[in-house]
Amino acid sequence: MTPKIRTPLAALALAAAAALTGGPAAAQASKLKIGLMLPYTGTYAALGVAIENGFRLYVDEQGGKLGGRELEFVKVDDESDPAKAVDNVNKLIKRDNVDVLVGTVHSGVAMAMGKAAKDSGTMLIVPNAGAVAVTGPMCAKNIFRSSFSNWQPGYAMGEVVAKKGHKKVVTITWKYAAGDESVGGFKESFTKAGGQIVKELTLPFPNVEFQALLTEIASIKPDAVYTFFAGGGAVKFVKDYDAAGLKKTIPLYGAGFLTDGTLEAQGAAAEGLLTTLHYGDGLDTPRNNAFRLGYAKAYKLQPDVYAMQGYDAAQILAIGLKATKGDIAKKTEFAAALEKARIDSPRGAFALGKNHNPVQDIYLRQVVGKENKVIGVASKQLADPGRGCKM
Ligand code: BEZ
Repeated sequence: MTPKIRTPLAALALAAAAALTGGPAAAQASKLKIGLMLPYTGTYAALGVAIENGFRLYVDEQGGKLGGRELEFVKVDDESDPAKAVDNVNKLIKRDNVDVLVGTVHSGVAMAMGKAAKDSGTMLIVPNAGAVAVTGPMCAKNIFRSSFSNWQPGYAMGEVVAKKGHKKVVTITWKYAAGDESVGGFKESFTKAGGQIVKELTLPFPNVEFQALLTEIASIKPDAVYTFFAGGGAVKFVKDYDAAGLKKTIPLYGAGFLTDGTLEAQGAAAEGLLTTLHYGDGLDTPRNNAFRLGYAKAYKLQPDVYAMQGYDAAQILAIGLKATKGDIAKKTEFAAALEKARIDSPRGAFALGKNHNPVQDIYLRQVVGKENKVIGVASKQLADPGRGCKM
């Protein structure tokens, strides 16, 4: 029943408290320390803010406590920079002694967090980054994801594009795990259905100099283009694709991050685009409507997929803490509760797979005005294969 203790002084203080108040229950009365490691600057800054907003919204709806514990937040701006990730996560674990890590957006940073969580046993809830390794070879009892694996929206879109009769596709993305794995998922289902990837174009993250690559696409003249971009990069890519005159001649398809949280800035350039994702802002269910209303009231903003994932990260923590009566050290009981839970998400209720990644419907969405309108389910209850995960 004792929380993580890392210094002799802390151990002494806790023992004294327990002696005075009659036992380890005293430890549960202390605040639970949450390390929020998210981007607050750079191309993914808005995504980090939306995740934190969503997380706090759920906590506030529960009266500020989860599993009977009040929460205390320690925040780190990870800048979506993998080179700083090991230092940043170690500061949270070793200096700040956080009980739970919540982060992050960028897959390269998330892989460092996954390794640190696995090595130290610290609870980790990933509220966005789809790095396949985190719920693959790195999977662990104390690691959970409230979002998706990069493979999931890509795989669903490969089937959609093949069904539309496109045969030759060019892919374009940033050269890092998220782009590679999103294209990998697309390629897997698209080639299985007889399609061909004629060129895989990449540029380094977070570069947005797309012009030369757009010229190359125009000269190849594929049947269609598949892409992964998100945040500020997605805004610029969609505008540049349209401005280059390609939107009218070569249909553009993407993982839904291409148009999520970006529509105000993309304007008419995004109109009509088809994407696949585990959320759509127009999902007309009582659960989603209540979430959207609560978020809009609290933040004077419309939520997006990132806000929804932050909200569900808090729900995951709440389920685990309820089962352990607030004791985060009871990892086996915490995991067991989540492995049998149905999480009442604004996206639709979902369960976690054996690798602790959501098994979920991947929607086909179309941009209509300022909305990602759900027009169908591209892949029902799609589970990430969890390749390499041994728990
Ligand atoms: C990623 O790096 O995994 C990622 C970043 C933004 C949106 C989706 C995925």
